[in-house]
Amino acid sequence: MSKVTVIGAGNVGATCANVLVTEGIADDVVLLDIKEGVSEGKAMDIMQSANILGLDSRLKGVTNDYAATADSDVVVITSGIPRKPGMTREELIGVNAGIVKSVTENVLKYSPKAVIICVSNPMDTMTYLIHKTSGLPKNKIIGMGGALDSARFRYFLSQAMGANYNDVDGFVIGGHGDTTMIPMTRFAVNRGVPAAEILDAETLAKVAADTMVGGATLTGLLGTSAWYAPGAAAASVVKAIVSDSKSMITCSALLDGEYGEKDLCIGVPCILGRNGIESIVEYKLNEEEAALFAKSAKAVHTTNAALPC
Ligand code: LAC
Repeated sequence: MSKVTVIGAGNVGATCANVLVTEGIADDVVLLDIKEGVSEGKAMDIMQSANILGLDSRLKGVTNDYAATADSDVVVITSGIPRKPGMTREELIGVNAGIVKSVTENVLKYSPKAVIICVSNPMDTMTYLIHKTSGLPKNKIIGMGGALDSARFRYFLSQAMGANYNDVDGFVIGGHGDTTMIPMTRFAVNRGVPAAEILDAETLAKVAADTMVGGATLTGLLGTSAWYAPGAAAASVVKAIVSDSKSMITCSALLDGEYGEKDLCIGVPCILGRNGIESIVEYKLNEEEAALFAKSAKAVHTTNAALPC
């Protein structure tokens, strides 16, 4: 039995709730929004697909009723405004910090033991803010950015290789920002064959560059931030937790010396399970990767310094 709450019934939150229900990831899902009627409407719309799709999970939409979220095992926070074309994620901090802080306080009143997944942008800084606000142990707070960025990396790799998406593996570390992401091209593979043996250096560099601006490209096309892959990525993190999978997903985690950094949340490969982040996997970075990671961490620290707390 697992209960999952998604805060924010915008595009990303509603998509996440839809994936949780259609994939049967959680038995009970609550979708909460501050806007009257939106979460109720979206939940009803999704549940009206239940007998078409043979769903077993239950989804309930509520307006600002945190009591309905009580005793959730996992809470996904998607609240806040999305970016518009031409904006960076970092520019959202002023509005989103206040929202994420008050949402976290409300969530914890009713689900003090929940694992919290942060989706709101700027994601690494909002994850850090949740640490500062909640006082929860660090394993229980997870930023989902790396799961999304890695999915985009695998998409661009498979496109460039003409390979099946599921035969391709690769992950992205560093910040969830257009200039702070680090697609780990050295570890990317297609059925075990290194990407560098399949793609020439220029193509591989383009795959990495396309990955880094993957969100901005979609924002330009859609006029607002993307939602299908972000919602599915958040749901994949929930799945790893509620199924206690112990699988590796890159997530924003609070570092305490890992990768030479501390006192910030940034994307690193994590083993996820019932306790949230069960451990951080420390790959041995080469000199270039280590320099990129240090630069990325510095940029995330700079954004964190703008937090009002
Ligand atoms: C993106 C947003 C969710 O990358 O950060 O699409």
